[in-house]
This record gives sequence, structure tokens and C-alpha cells, in this order.
Amino acid sequence: MKLLLLGSGGREHALAWKIARSNRVDRLFIAPGNAGTSAAGTNVAIAATDFPALKAFALSEQIDMIVVGPEDPLVQGIYDTFAADPATAHIAVIGPTAAAARLEGSKEFAKAFMQRHGIPTARYLSVTADNLADGLAFLEQLPAPYVLKADGLCAGKGVLILPTLDEARHELQAMLGGMFGQASSTVVIEEFLSGIECSVFVLTDSRHYKVLPVAKDYKRIGEGDTGLNTGGMGSVSPVPFADEVFMEKVRTRIIEPTITGLQQERLLYKGFIFLGLINVGGEPMVIEYNVRMGDPETESVMLRIQSDLVELLEGVRDGNLDTQTLVEDARTAACVMLVSGGYPEAYGKGYPIEGLDEAARTGSILFHAGTTSKEDAVVTAGGRVLAVCSYGSTREEALANSYRAAALVRFDKRYFRRDIGFDL
Ligand code: AMP
Ligand code: GLY
Repeated sequence: MKLLLLGSGGREHALAWKIARSNRVDRLFIAPGNAGTSAAGTNVAIAATDFPALKAFALSEQIDMIVVGPEDPLVQGIYDTFAADPATAHIAVIGPTAAAARLEGSKEFAKAFMQRHGIPTARYLSVTADNLADGLAFLEQLPAPYVLKADGLCAGKGVLILPTLDEARHELQAMLGGMFGQASSTVVIEEFLSGIECSVFVLTDSRHYKVLPVAKDYKRIGEGDTGLNTGGMGSVSPVPFADEVFMEKVRTRIIEPTITGLQQERLLYKGFIFLGLINVGGEPMVIEYNVRMGDPETESVMLRIQSDLVELLEGVRDGNLDTQTLVEDARTAACVMLVSGGYPEAYGKGYPIEGLDEAARTGSILFHAGTTSKEDAVVTAGGRVLAVCSYGSTREEALANSYRAAALVRFDKRYFRRDIGFDL
């Protein structure tokens, strides 16, 4: 078949790498892709949210399936747009409808959904300018610290964790006053949960599901998980505390009620569900839903899927995912993100990258995140530049392999965390 993958980051390079290994794919296009994805398929200069251009391309190239990397096209309704047009309705879009994508697009919707279906999550109150007084009163009932979440999409920046009640009151009003524009005109106030987090990815055809290898990501820029939030500084899979007992709770208390809840509410969902979980004294609770794969978790997760991913996606398309098998690689995978100095604040771009071939010869797999080709060189084109991923028979070995390869990749102001996996 002919497959079109949307997006341009490390997640998409990892997906492209895995898709390109499938027996089921004759052609792979990536829109818009990056300097790395062009090794797995053909980059096409179309933005992932330019639906008219994507439709025209899909028709002219006779695309059979579209795999969506980032959330924006899903929340904006790419599934519905293709399904509603008789000319494109035969093209399988892997992802939820816009109505179901509200699980990520609206924190208020996600919390209310969990409440309706008895899915364990933090206590909350949803606040707008109209019930600010209730919001302030709710904050007073909660112990510190305080969690405030902009309802809408904020490119990963919409969550504030405040140490004092005064700051929480102040920031709540600032958020409602437009700190994140329309996205924070509704704010979800949540009880703070204390525990260690992990990312569980579920693939569903809307009735059956498969749980992909569990991963953990490292979001903060600084070692020991300190400093500003980033798009992700590294990941590992598997996660030791996500053992059989924990995962059985995840399946029965979270995954199954989520899929049944979607069915009951007639929310069509044929794609990846990302459960951001926290382990509170052995009990899994949902921090958030995303309607896509995680980045940089995907970079580790793809290494650990032995089965043909595209066969699994065909099961999603055809509604017979139960007839497919998902075989996990028993090895550990670890990914270290190389970023441009200054990130996640201001950073430079266009720095030539050296040592890519040398690093790849060590056996590590380099997924490009923010790179572009310039004449014959590969140069940096983003804050997160490259995900250096490796296998190992243990977590220590996988990480050592990634750090060895990372040291061989050179560009101006390169930075990476040296403590990925430190808390496991
Ligand atoms: P998000 O941007 O939704 O991924 O949230 C950012 C981070 O905020 C999460 O990964 C958690 O570490 C933290 N967080 C969100 N909600 C809570 C909560 N209720 N309790 C504790 N930490 C939270
Ligand atoms: N790694 C977290 C995310 O993709 O949202």
C-alpha cells in the first residue's frame, strides 16, 4: 500500500523508520518530514494541518492510509474531513474523530469523561470567569502544591504547578485573563498527585485494543528533572514499576473503561491513545490523555515492537485488531535527546551537524527531530535536534550505548541530559 505519515519530529522519524520496515508498504511519504525521514521515504512539503493540500496529494498519489503524528490535525478534524468527502472516504486515517480528539483538545472534556466512566484521576474543578469564586474556594480546600491546566491545546505549556495558594490564586486569574489566549479561558484546577509517571500507549480499532511497550519520558531540561519543561529530553522502555500487577489495573480500570466509554458516547476512535499515568502508591491514575503517540517515547517504543506495525494499523482500519499479534522485543530501549543550547528558551538554528555516520556505526539509531538538509550538510533546525536511541540487555547498557553514540555527534552548543533513567 501507499502510506502518508504526517509530522516532522523525532516521533515521526521513528514511525517512518518502523513503517519502512513493513512488508505491506510500497511507498511511504512524509509531510512535511525532516532530514532524517527522507531516508525512510519521500518528504512532501505540505504542512500536517493543510487539509486541502493533503487531500489533493493523497488523491494524486493514490494514498491508502494516513498515519497522523501530532495532535493538531486530529483535533482540527482530519479524520472527519477525509471521511466526509466521497473522494477521500476510502483512505484510512489512523486517529480519532475530532469529537473523540477532545480527550486531548479539552482538559475539561477529558476530566468529565473520566468522571462519567469512573476512571481514576485527580479531583478537579473546571473554572471560567463566570465561576471564579468557586475556583478560588476550591483552591482553598486543596493542599499545596496547586495544579492549573489551560483547557485547550498549548503545545505542552499549559500546565502550571504552583507552590503557594497566593501564586495559585494569582495565576488562575492570569490564565482566565488570557495568559494562553482562548486556550485558558477555561482552566481545570486539579488536586496534586504524587508519584512516578509513565506513558502507556494503546492502539484501538474502537472495539479491540493492543497495549504497546510502556515507556517513561523525561520532560525537564535539567538533570534530576529540574528546570523548565521541554518537549522531552529522553525516554526508556520498559518501565520496571509497570509490572504485570500494575498493568492489569491499567487495563481493567483505565483502558477498558476508556474504550467502552468512547463506544457508549459514540465517539469513533481508530488510532493511538496515549495515557499519561502516575503511580500513586501502586495505583495507576490518569494525569492526561493524548490522542497520538508521545515524543520522545515513540523513539523507544518503536524499537521495542517486533511485529509489523502496518499490519497492526490494517487491523485498526479493518476493525479486526484482535486477529493481529503484537510481539515485544525483550531488550531495553533508551533514547537521549540532543538539543540546541538555550532550548527550551531562545536558541540558534542552522548549526552544521557532524559525526552522524560515525554514531550510526556504533549500532545506535539516530532519529532526527529538528534537522534540515542544506546543500550537502545536515544542519539544526529546531530546539530538539536528534534522538539517539539504542538497545541494551539492561537499561544501563542501553543508556551507555546511547551516550557513547551521542558523544560522537557534534554541533555548536549541543546539550543533553546525562541522567536519563535515573529514577527507575
Ligand atoms: P502535561 O503538559 O499535561 O503533560 O502536564 C505536565 C506535567 O504536569 C505532567 O507530566 C505531570 O508531571 C504534571 N502534572 C499534571 N497534572 C498533575 C497532577 N494532578 N498532579 C501532579 N502532577 C501533575
Ligand atoms: N512526551 C510527552 C508528549 O509527547 O506529550
